[in-house]
Amino acid sequence: MKVTVVGAGAVGASCAEYIAIKNFASEVVLVDIKEGFAEGKAMDLMQTASLNGFDTKIVGSTNDYSKTANSDVAVITSGIPRKPGMTREELISTNAGIVNTVAENLIKHSPNVIIIVVSNPMDTMTYLTHKATGLAKNRIIGMGGALDSARFKYRLAEATDAPISDIDGMVIGGHSDTGMIPLTRLATRNSVPVSEFISEERMAEVKEATKVGGATLTKLLGTSAWYAPGAAVSAMVHAIANDSHKMFPCSCLLEGEYGLNDICIGVPALIGANGIEKIVEIDLNDTEKQELVNSAEAVRKTNGLL
Ligand code: 2OP
Repeated sequence: MKVTVVGAGAVGASCAEYIAIKNFASEVVLVDIKEGFAEGKAMDLMQTASLNGFDTKIVGSTNDYSKTANSDVAVITSGIPRKPGMTREELISTNAGIVNTVAENLIKHSPNVIIIVVSNPMDTMTYLTHKATGLAKNRIIGMGGALDSARFKYRLAEATDAPISDIDGMVIGGHSDTGMIPLTRLATRNSVPVSEFISEERMAEVKEATKVGGATLTKLLGTSAWYAPGAAVSAMVHAIANDSHKMFPCSCLLEGEYGLNDICIGVPALIGANGIEKIVEIDLNDTEKQELVNSAEAVRKTNGLL
């Protein structure tokens, strides 16, 4: 499998590293506009190959998309990250132009590529990528829910003092500080509802901490997080490589699912060799349905800024 990662910054480089370490890709091409930066990151990562035991070939390219030709999957991480106190939506004026150009360049050299969008505001950038490329809707996936769910599981494990391997939970909705929906009702500890172990008040704290998980890290780090975003993307690419049909909440173009149309927003989907194999419509209760409607309204408002 050949994978292109556009943006050799912290998220892109982490994504490339995790993909390489999982050793399922033959080649990873890192692309950046900064002269020599992608080449340097690729060389540094390749010098870990004998230590981390992978045969994946990582190469760098300074804005030369010919090296990305015939990629099976392309990850778009390019654009500016948040600074403390910023919302993801505030990045749209800069990132929309970047994502549009990147998507067009990718398609030119890899017409059958599956694109995973990470750049923020991610749901809107995913929607923009659909408009920019005209790819079939199953071939464009927004990564947000996989990351948010990982943060949700972290907070649930913290609250229950359980090993994270015992915890399952999913976050749907927009990838935004206010719009994401941690499905607390469905969260489990080894198949037992988490609500059996913690109070409603503590569960509410877990939900809120999850929603601002990205902002919490941006405040601590001075910039957006990169390890968990990179790991989340690599897990999705792995599912495509293995044709796993693994379920991830991810930003998909909806055409009536969940009663929503012409919007990209986080919903459960099976990810495999064809990208989005199936959008899974789970039964939501009235509160969750309303939260999704509200979240969609916020995403649509950001889409209106394109
Ligand atoms: C995050 O939540 C970068 O949006 C990403 O960390």
